[in-house]
Amino acid sequence: MSNNDIYQPSLFSDAELGLNDQYTQEGPVCCLGMEFDNDEARREYFRNELRKRLPELRKIEGFPIGTDDDIIRLSDPPYYTACPNPWLNDFIREWEDEKVELEHEGKRDKQFRVSEPYASDVSDIKNDSVYRAHMYHTKVPHKLIMRYLLHYTEPGDIVLDGFAGTGMTGVAAQACGDLENQDWETIEADIDVKKQKRGLRHAICGDLSPYAATIAYNP
Ligand SMILES: C[S@@+](CC[C@H](N)C(=O)[O-])C[C@H]1O[C@@H](n2cnc3c(N)ncnc32)[C@H](O)[C@@H]1O
Repeated sequence: MSNNDIYQPSLFSDAELGLNDQYTQEGPVCCLGMEFDNDEARREYFRNELRKRLPELRKIEGFPIGTDDDIIRLSDPPYYTACPNPWLNDFIREWEDEKVELEHEGKRDKQFRVSEPYASDVSDIKNDSVYRAHMYHTKVPHKLIMRYLLHYTEPGDIVLDGFAGTGMTGVAAQACGDLENQDWETIEADIDVKKQKRGLRHAICGDLSPYAATIAYNP
C-alpha cells in the first residue's frame, strides 16, 4: 500500500504553512530555459511535472511520508520541493554554463586556490535580525557563513548544504551577490572582503526535517 492509499487529513492550513505568501513575481519569468507569463504559471507547470515524477521519486529510500497532494501543495518547484528535487542536475548545468561566462568576463578565476585556512569568532554576529527571526538548534548566523564563502569560494560557485536547517547557507550565498546592502562591520570584522571577489554563490540546501525546510523556504 502506498502513502496515497491512506487518507491523511492535512495538519495545517495553507495560511499556516505560508503557502498563501509564496514568492510571486508579477510579469514574465524565465526558469530553467523556459518562459512563463508569471510565477503562478511557472509554479503550475512544474507542479504538474513534479506530480508525474512522484512515482519514480517515491522509490528513493527515505522519501517523506505524505500524500502526493500534500507534497505538491508544500512544494514550489523547481526551486523548492518537499521531497528529493528532480531538477538539481538542470540547475547545476545552468550554473556551470554561467561559470564559463563569469570567467570570460573576468569575474571569477578558473585557477582559484585557497592558500590559507580561515577561522572566525562568531560571538559578534548573533544579534542579527535574520539570525533571530526563527529559533532553531545550532543555528549558524548567515554573516558568519558569508565570511567562509567569501574566503573559500568564487562568484558563481555551487555550495551544497545537506544539513541546511533554516537555510542560512542559502541566505549567505545570495547575500554575497548583494554586499552593498549588507552590514559591513560584521562581515569585514576579520576578513578583507574588499580583496575577495564579490558576487552571488549558488546554494543547494536540503534537510531531513519538514519544520526546517518550511522555515528555509519561507523567507
Ligand atoms: C546543526 S543543524 C543545522 C542548522 C543550520 N546550520 C542552520 O543555521 O539553521 C543540523 C540539521 O541536520 C539535519 N539532519 C540530520 N540528519 C540528517 C540527514 N540524514 N539528512 C538530512 N538532514 C539531516 C537536522 O534536521 C538539522 O536541521
